Amino acid sequence: MNRMGKAVIYATGMTKNTKKLAEYIAKSIGAEIFNLKEITKIDVSGFDEIIFGTGIHAGKPYKPVKEFIENNKESLAGKKLFLFISCMYNDEKGDRQCETVSNDFGISDAVYFNKKAEEMNEAGFPAAVDEFIKRL
Ligand SMILES: Cc1cc2nc3c(=O)[nH]c(=O)nc-3n(C[C@H](O)[C@H](O)[C@H](O)COP(=O)(O)O)c2cc1C
Repeated sequence: MNRMGKAVIYATGMTKNTKKLAEYIAKSIGAEIFNLKEITKIDVSGFDEIIFGTGIHAGKPYKPVKEFIENNKESLAGKKLFLFISCMYNDEKGDRQCETVSNDFGISDAVYFNKKAEEMNEAGFPAAVDEFIKRL
């Protein structure tokens, strides 16, 4: 029997916040990790669960992530997809922004994290990241 795996696929910017989150998540769940700024052709056939990560600039998610999802629609169909967003907005603004990106990507299971989180874990990430990891 084939054992399918998990992958974290992300793009990050200057501050590398998304990269740090992606690495923490991938390590916690034993997933393979891909940085879309280094590799854009990924064979997703061996993964049954994929967690996408992006930052936000001026309301827009990072282009490599959007393009990857658009270009791989067929191969991603039927897989468990998750999305995490690394951003600075919180509360209603953050919720709205997250919903917009979630709809745009067609990934309904979407969360966002930022440094203004009330609770941090021992690794210095928002405690909500650990709640997210438990579901992956
Ligand atoms: C030019 C610029 C524009 C940004 N625009 C937004 C925004 O519209 N909404 C938001 O929530 N965060 C915004 N941010 C914050 C980043 O999304 C946030 O710092 C994120 O963690 C960056 O991830 P990265 O380090 O992986 O690039 C912006 C940051 C920069 C530098």
